[in-house]
Amino acid sequence: MNERPSPATPVPAAQQEREAEVTRQVLASFDGCADPRLREIMQSLVRHLHAFVREVRLTEDEWSQGIGFLARAGQITDERRQEFILLSDVLGASMQTVAVNNEAYGDATEATVFGPFFMENSPEIGQGGDLSFGAPGEPCWVEGSVRDVDGKPVAGARIEVWEADEDGLYDTQYGDDRTAARAHLYSDAEGRYRFWGLTPTPYPIPHDGPVGALLAAVGRSPMRASHLHFMVSAPAQRTLVTHIFVRDDELLGQDCVFGVKESLVKDFLHQRAGTPTPDGRDLGDRSWSRVRFDIVLAPQGT
Ligand code: BEZ
Ligand code: FE
Repeated sequence: MNERPSPATPVPAAQQEREAEVTRQVLASFDGCADPRLREIMQSLVRHLHAFVREVRLTEDEWSQGIGFLARAGQITDERRQEFILLSDVLGASMQTVAVNNEAYGDATEATVFGPFFMENSPEIGQGGDLSFGAPGEPCWVEGSVRDVDGKPVAGARIEVWEADEDGLYDTQYGDDRTAARAHLYSDAEGRYRFWGLTPTPYPIPHDGPVGALLAAVGRSPMRASHLHFMVSAPAQRTLVTHIFVRDDELLGQDCVFGVKESLVKDFLHQRAGTPTPDGRDLGDRSWSRVRFDIVLAPQGT
């Protein structure tokens, strides 16, 4: 294994030329790719990857550690655990992709990271329904509206909601087949929606795998700021993937996947036990919270 030269050591011109020649050869190997977009992506990837290897003067031992890391990420990934999404998230690649694909449009609600815990086929709840399905946590009344950028109500928007329970676990982490703390509902004729969820609490992303080891090695926390996930879709509108965050959460400034945006920070108003609920539900001796989230969808294709 070779020693890494100190960063100050200049790379001789002849050596630089040998390295550039490797990059040229690899780039040329994609010249015949019939799909122009695939060619563009692969050649750009090669350019950046080679520049990275050359810039840090990657040692063979470090290359080998990188390969081992990727292999471990693959080994731990299955249909319920997606280590590569976690990796993309903690490197900010997910949020950068969100930024590139969701340009600001009028006062459309901002998008944020999707995360690895969305599941297709969540149960449908009606207006005012409860998505907890037995997941532990403080009840939270969530209400709001769905509108387009002209202020027109969007009726029948599909609103998917998912969140961790008060122990910081999604149902996919329970180790059984339970579905909990996730559901979907549809906005009503005036574009309004309301449901019972759980007051969000902070939780760590899964950190018992290679991504967790990476965060520990670089001294970064695996914690996410408290949040509630939404995905909102409607005909002729851009699908919105976002969360709302809890004002006063001390983790807002240190979310490990860079997902927090000020416009998504909301007031979750704490309600003492015994405070009458909006729908008359009897919560006995439990406290609860309430939050309002008005959603604005950008037009499709923007
Ligand atoms: C989440 O919020 O569910 C999440 C996002 C990124 C990585 C891990 C979890
Ligand atoms: Fe989450």
